[in-house]
Amino acid sequence: MKILAIETSCDETAAAVVSKNPGESYVKILSNVVASSLMLHSKTGGIIPDVAAREQLKFIIPVIEKAIKTSKIKIEDLDAIAITQGPGLIGSLLIGVETAKTLSFLWKKPIIPVNHLFGHIYANFIQAPKLDAVQFPAIALLVSGGHTDLVLIKNHNNFKWLGGTRDDAAGEAFDKIGRLLNLPYPAGPTMEALAKNGDEKAFNFPRPMIGSRDFDFSFSGLKAAVWRETKKLGSSVNYSPSTINDICACVQKSIIEVLVRKTLKAAKKYNVKSILLGGGVAANQKLRDEIKLKTKIKFFFPEKGLCTDNAAMIGAYAAFHPEEKSWEKINANPELYFD
Ligand code: KG4
Ligand code: ZN
Repeated sequence: MKILAIETSCDETAAAVVSKNPGESYVKILSNVVASSLMLHSKTGGIIPDVAAREQLKFIIPVIEKAIKTSKIKIEDLDAIAITQGPGLIGSLLIGVETAKTLSFLWKKPIIPVNHLFGHIYANFIQAPKLDAVQFPAIALLVSGGHTDLVLIKNHNNFKWLGGTRDDAAGEAFDKIGRLLNLPYPAGPTMEALAKNGDEKAFNFPRPMIGSRDFDFSFSGLKAAVWRETKKLGSSVNYSPSTINDICACVQKSIIEVLVRKTLKAAKKYNVKSILLGGGVAANQKLRDEIKLKTKIKFFFPEKGLCTDNAAMIGAYAAFHPEEKSWEKINANPELYFD
């Protein structure tokens, strides 16, 4: 089947055309277009929902047009339109959802509503150079700016949420700590780069909840510990580059240690055959390397460009779950979770 997918949950406006033949274990990308208003948000140190929504409006039609054109398929050949229904910012979501509904009405194509969180997990089901199929049961670690969740996947239709963050998400911890250090938003990639020249032993930051019996996470204590340290060091404008590098290295180490420990604990408990990584923080090379180093279980992670928000992942989930609906039944849902 051929699907036009649209994703507008936050600050990316994305459209993609994907295809999947029955029985195939991967989705193929025919086109994948992403426009981002991130540069605007890096100036304000975070996303302002109104600004993000206005930018979505600017980009939505050109992005869809480009995705269809570069896919070289005809609109008649599309089987469905997949759309991110939530979670996300309501203003941003509405632009994608209402556009998808309009196209569905005009083109007489069904809609497949997709939960953005499942989309991040299904970035692992997009055709990669290494064509190794995911085997179930699998554990997925979803780590983004808004989420840190562990999900047990028994098969394509059986998901069980095991635990998640009680406060800040892993990406949010990078971003908020980056702000303490005067780094641009989003700070995750910058902190990863600076950490390469830092000393992981320079500061002894906590590994919150690393030994807890559940699969929950908490990163606000880490942020508070870094804040206390920065108070001792004085104003961030006076930090030497090596101090900033050291803080980045130690923060990254703390976050990764907790993520890896809990993921492997869940993998062991549920005797899984695959581990999947998804979400923006999945682009972190150190996190990938640590998981690879510490387990022999098959480990899957999306290409770096497919870790952050994109529409191909939304199309991938839809292709495995072609639950078609008519446009009258679709509404944006900013609160959607793992149901
Ligand atoms: O999945 P995503 O694009 O958006 C959400 O749905 O949240 O994730 C964005 C998050 C940001 O918090 C960003 O700092 C983080 O992913 N991130 C990284 C890296 N690349 C992006 N965090 C650590 N290391 C990276 N290389
Ligand atoms: Zn996301």
